[in-house]
Amino acid sequence: MSASPTAIRPVRKAVFPVAGLGTRFLPASKAVPKEMLTVVDMPVIQYAVNEAREAGIEHFIFVTGRNKHVIEDHFDLQPELIDTLADRNKKDMLEILERYQPEAGQTSFTRQQAPLGLGHAVWCARDIVGSEPFALLLPDMVMKAEGAGCLSSMMDVYATTGGNIIAVEETSDEDIPSKGIVDPGEKRGDGFVIKRMVEKPALAEAPSNLMINGRYIIQPEIFDLLENQEKGAGGEIQITDALERLSSTQDFFGYKFTGSTFDCGSKEGFIAANVSFALAREDTGPTVRKIIAEMMD
Ligand code: UTP
Repeated sequence: MSASPTAIRPVRKAVFPVAGLGTRFLPASKAVPKEMLTVVDMPVIQYAVNEAREAGIEHFIFVTGRNKHVIEDHFDLQPELIDTLADRNKKDMLEILERYQPEAGQTSFTRQQAPLGLGHAVWCARDIVGSEPFALLLPDMVMKAEGAGCLSSMMDVYATTGGNIIAVEETSDEDIPSKGIVDPGEKRGDGFVIKRMVEKPALAEAPSNLMINGRYIIQPEIFDLLENQEKGAGGEIQITDALERLSSTQDFFGYKFTGSTFDCGSKEGFIAANVSFALAREDTGPTVRKIIAEMMD
């Protein structure tokens, strides 16, 4: 890996790839995008957008596909609803809508015309991102941080190291062959040097048990590499393969996330996220705790 430093430019934009078919969630995901399924009362996609906003992101770029237009509607204004709530003096509900409403011009939507893989989805955002570093958040991975959000903490690492930042966390031997895995090097502030990345390694070839958990800060040079990236694991264009190639000319650092991550692309992860967030919230926690305790009796 080269030691050539990359100038530290601000990260203003975030890409949310939401064009996957969500086959693990059929039949629910046939007409409703899996990103619009709710964890308590917020769609899965909103958690990643909130995390990005908290980290200082100013522009939210969604790579969608067919049947995903409801995601665009979710981030639009709903004047009839606002007027009706205002007429009925429902201030608390108006406040909820306002809290999550992006400003005009803060969102962009583009379509991945065929689900050719995550790397291809990211490449579809190239013109909207332009020539600046960007954050990449996989919305399926819903994160519950103990303090600052995962992307905020990555921004802190980035402020001192620059380059490319990848969030990781420990995973089980059983899951290693289905994840992107990094080879960790020496410590750097709150992060560490990444020596190598490999997508879906066999357990015996995995360089560690640190899996890439769905949050990245990436330099724009990735787009040239994605343009001619060959298909990798699963016959899909993999972002990890392009990142591994980028690492021959740029620095990569890891940030180890310590909160809870729920893979809401899987049924079990989605249910666990609902239980965990519902228990943690003041409005739902006491009742849900009681219901679960009764079920466990
Ligand atoms: P996943 O492989 O977890 O999502 O991709 P999927 O393909 O929708 O799920 P299953 O396996 O069929 O249930 C990780 C992320 O990459 C996006 C997905 O939307 C998800 O956010 N993605 C994946 C794309 O945007 N385009 C693709 O071609 C593939």
